[in-house]
Amino acid sequence: MHEDIEKVLIDEEVIEKRLDIIADRILGEFRGSPFVVIVILKGALVFTADLLRRMPIPLEIECINVASYHGETKSSGRVDFLDAKLPLVKGRSVLLIDDILDTGRTLVAVEAKLREQGARIVKSCVLLSKDKERSAEVEADYVGFHIGNEFVVGYGLDYKGLYRNLPYVGILKEETVEASG
Ligand code: IMP
Ligand code: MG
Repeated sequence: MHEDIEKVLIDEEVIEKRLDIIADRILGEFRGSPFVVIVILKGALVFTADLLRRMPIPLEIECINVASYHGETKSSGRVDFLDAKLPLVKGRSVLLIDDILDTGRTLVAVEAKLREQGARIVKSCVLLSKDKERSAEVEADYVGFHIGNEFVVGYGLDYKGLYRNLPYVGILKEETVEASG
């Protein structure tokens, strides 16, 4: 465990077992009909790479960049689309992947945007869902783990751009957060 981490919440082995189950479930529900995967960068990068390697089918993967956190541990309340062009989704089925469902603003905003662009079906998948009141009523179709209302890093999730590469989901030491101010 890295010295900035207070405790590991979900370790690698537990994540891997859970991914097997989610990948099977997704494949079962789409039942051979084609879908495009849209990854919300950067948080969903690690999760997506591991999840999609459990799906031995010809998949198209697209990425979108949104910003809602701007380096803090609390949501800014605004979701900005950072790409000049969004993936073409008109008439298509989409599997949308994000790292974590927190206030719900990101998922609501991105789903709305994809539907506005003509997506036929949008299913969402998140590694983590925080048990808390959301700003909008939203839940993902596929959830890796439900966690408490605490700030986590690792397995794609960052604090000020760091820790995404840690192979587990953990909680930062208070002094790490304070020291970086
Ligand atoms: P929402 O729009 O509030 O649901 O937040 C979603 C985004 O906020 C996620 O994609 C993350 O980038 C970021 N986020 C929310 N909670 C955490 C956390 O505990 N650790 C790191 N990033 C988080
Ligand atoms: Mg994110």
